[in-house]
Amino acid sequence: MPRVNGVGVQVEDTKICVVMVGLPARGKSFIAQKAQRYLQWLSIPAKTFNVGNYRRNDAPHPTADFFDTSNPEGEKKRRAAAKAAVADMLAWFRQGGVIGILDATNSTKERRRWVLDTCNQEGIEVLFVESKCDDEALIMANIRDVKTTSPDYKGQDPETAAQDFRNRIRMYEKVYKSVDEDGDENDLTYLKIMDVGKQVIINRISDYLQSRVVYYLMNLHIRPRSVWLSRHGESMYNLDGKIGGDAGLSPRGEQYARKLPDLVRQSVGDDRPLTVWTSTLKRTIATARFLPGDYNQLQWKALDELDAGVCDGLTYQQIKDQHPEDFAARDEDKYNYRYRGGESYRDVVIRLEPIIMELERSEDILIITHQAVLRCVYAYFMKKDQAQSPWMNVPLHTLIKLTPRAYGTDEVRYPANIPAVSTWRGKGSTAKHEDPLPEAM
Ligand code: SIN
Repeated sequence: MPRVNGVGVQVEDTKICVVMVGLPARGKSFIAQKAQRYLQWLSIPAKTFNVGNYRRNDAPHPTADFFDTSNPEGEKKRRAAAKAAVADMLAWFRQGGVIGILDATNSTKERRRWVLDTCNQEGIEVLFVESKCDDEALIMANIRDVKTTSPDYKGQDPETAAQDFRNRIRMYEKVYKSVDEDGDENDLTYLKIMDVGKQVIINRISDYLQSRVVYYLMNLHIRPRSVWLSRHGESMYNLDGKIGGDAGLSPRGEQYARKLPDLVRQSVGDDRPLTVWTSTLKRTIATARFLPGDYNQLQWKALDELDAGVCDGLTYQQIKDQHPEDFAARDEDKYNYRYRGGESYRDVVIRLEPIIMELERSEDILIITHQAVLRCVYAYFMKKDQAQSPWMNVPLHTLIKLTPRAYGTDEVRYPANIPAVSTWRGKGSTAKHEDPLPEAM
């Protein structure tokens, strides 16, 4: 029976197990957590099952010899961990999970065939995602990352940990077989990513959801970069507490536009030019207009503010008076509430998907947009949950710098120190100059 999820993806009861493949330190967990976040942001139920976490229950701090396939005790525990992870994943699928991600090395053909057969018996499709990397610099960066973050090496001398981890990789290398493109694995559905995207091989992708995951993963890169976010300068509508519209900047908004180039330079730290994306509305374009001429500027309709439909141009007090039921319904479930003739936050996320895809492909970008849109983009990078994200306080006249890292995103805020009204509204209130609560973010 076809089902359409919240973002209009026809899932047709599709269930996919994304099975990671690859030696340790090849960025598998990075790929797994990015895919999980992307899918969850799109309201597709997704969960990662990390076999290492299950193994840690039985062997919290193993040395490299534990991973030697000729060590029967290690083999037994590792097999048990894989079985426990798969069993939990199957139980999760039975409860409505759509995309389960099995984060493990799955380095032998036998292991991959076992996962495939086990999933297929329950009607779950399998997409193998192999990360193959021979780039020494990338592997070393990953080893450094693992030795400082893995619970396996907690409290240990970093050099000893790094040496042991290298030995562990050698144990895996003895048995590792890349997905066989020409031999007995050419019937598998897989994506092979070589050297983090330099080359990809795709085989037998059979449905929409699989191709969507594959397309997203093909766009990921790990080159260092940041994303800067800013709302437009204070607008004439902001002064009146009105929502929507296409008003110009207030005098203080103008001041912010003039100060933005300095703020950006201070944050970027050098003269490298950024690419600037604005919406198609006057207030974001006006905010970007003093940025240096060598910055490429692009206007995206997808970055326009959430469409307030019949409430466009009203203040919150007017919405409460003229559309009391809508006002209450929005407070009840702000993420899903759709303004009559307009949009919900959920709708905004759908139209932002190409923006996220393009952001993943890109390097340094500055986005000048609107409160609701900025909340959605911010929620993607900072893993904010859906119910909370529409209530976040994103002040005017503040530049936000987000820097994606292996397992999260760093954030720095640069206030311009130019006063502006607060457009943040707490649940149940209509205040337009309300002070944000410290915990509102
Ligand atoms: C682990 O035990 O850390 C990972 C198990 C595996 O995927 O080989």
